[in-house]
Amino acid sequence: MNKKIKIAVLDGDGIGPEVVDQAKKVLDAIAHRFGHIFEYCHAPVGATAIDQTGEPLPAATLDACLEAEAILFGAIGHPKYDNDPSAVVRPEQGLLQLRKSLGLFANLRPVTIYPSLKDLCPLRPERIEGVDMLIVRELTGGIYFGKRGREDEGKTAYDTCTYTYEEVERIVRLAFVEAGKRRKKLTLVDKANVLESSRLWREVVQTVAPEYPEIEVNYMFVDNAAMQLILNPAQFDVIVTSNMFGDILSDASSVLAGSLGMLPSASIGVHTSLFEPIHGSYPQVAGEDRANPLATILSSAMLLDSLNLTEEATLVRTAVEQVLAKGLGTEDIRPTIQCSCSELGDIVAHLIEDEEAPGIRTEQLHHRLSTII
Ligand code: IPM
Ligand code: MG
Repeated sequence: MNKKIKIAVLDGDGIGPEVVDQAKKVLDAIAHRFGHIFEYCHAPVGATAIDQTGEPLPAATLDACLEAEAILFGAIGHPKYDNDPSAVVRPEQGLLQLRKSLGLFANLRPVTIYPSLKDLCPLRPERIEGVDMLIVRELTGGIYFGKRGREDEGKTAYDTCTYTYEEVERIVRLAFVEAGKRRKKLTLVDKANVLESSRLWREVVQTVAPEYPEIEVNYMFVDNAAMQLILNPAQFDVIVTSNMFGDILSDASSVLAGSLGMLPSASIGVHTSLFEPIHGSYPQVAGEDRANPLATILSSAMLLDSLNLTEEATLVRTAVEQVLAKGLGTEDIRPTIQCSCSELGDIVAHLIEDEEAPGIRTEQLHHRLSTII
């Protein structure tokens, strides 16, 4: 069935616009091939929005997101704020407010190892054999949103980590369901030997676990989990964890996949779901057409999944796999054939538009390459 879908597009900062453009090309290719209509509504967020309006999340941007059926998000952050601890308005607040306002309490971060990128992982190849995990990160609570401030004339600072039973329960249930769709193993990562909020997480997991008898449950302290991700990452299936631990462990896990530029994510919850790469705005190369667009392209596949466009999502993933298998990529993945960000987007989109073959036709790829190299 053909679909008409409204997508809010939030480029954000740094490499955000470039990588989002490639994901849009890919979505347009899907629209073309399947007869869907994707209507894009662009709206500013982050440092770009601060420059334009003084706010990191203008009301019009939030409205555009609420009206859309999905949100495609680039990246956020600008160096001029990173080294200015006194800045009161910060780009990241745009993303945090957006997550909170839309009730996006669950952030799904799959970690997939593409065979052709195995050499990029600093671990020995046998260590990453069989790695395929999903990090389910709580996204609207914890230390990111707790009470914070300064005391003692600014000489003391504090951030508090607060979770309610309900906040933990909804993410934990979601993680159990995700584990049910996969290898049926759930690991709660926390710091229950020290933190009271972590002990609440354990209590919740122990309480709901009997409702999911087919799922094997494990508990791991976050310091050990960081070590295990390097020692034996294949042991993990679904990891469920708090906002900050999930933020840290997902960046660490991207090393297994070969590049931070490879990891997509979906943020889901109460209102419109948001799809974004896990990487930041990478200001060092912004505007240079060098960034890896695959995390954003793979996020667009998750967007298609969320709309129940499964065949379309699979086609995007297959195109990415094929491109990587042919040794194509941006500089971060040290490919055999180096492409710019836009070239890689063009190639993936082109492969998808090809009605004749579900995968890559090598002759076509060579033809395509001869026009871009
Ligand atoms: C992420 C990012 C954000 C976070 C920043 C940009 C606020 O690191 O999505 O992982 O910490 O959640
Ligand atoms: Mg992060």
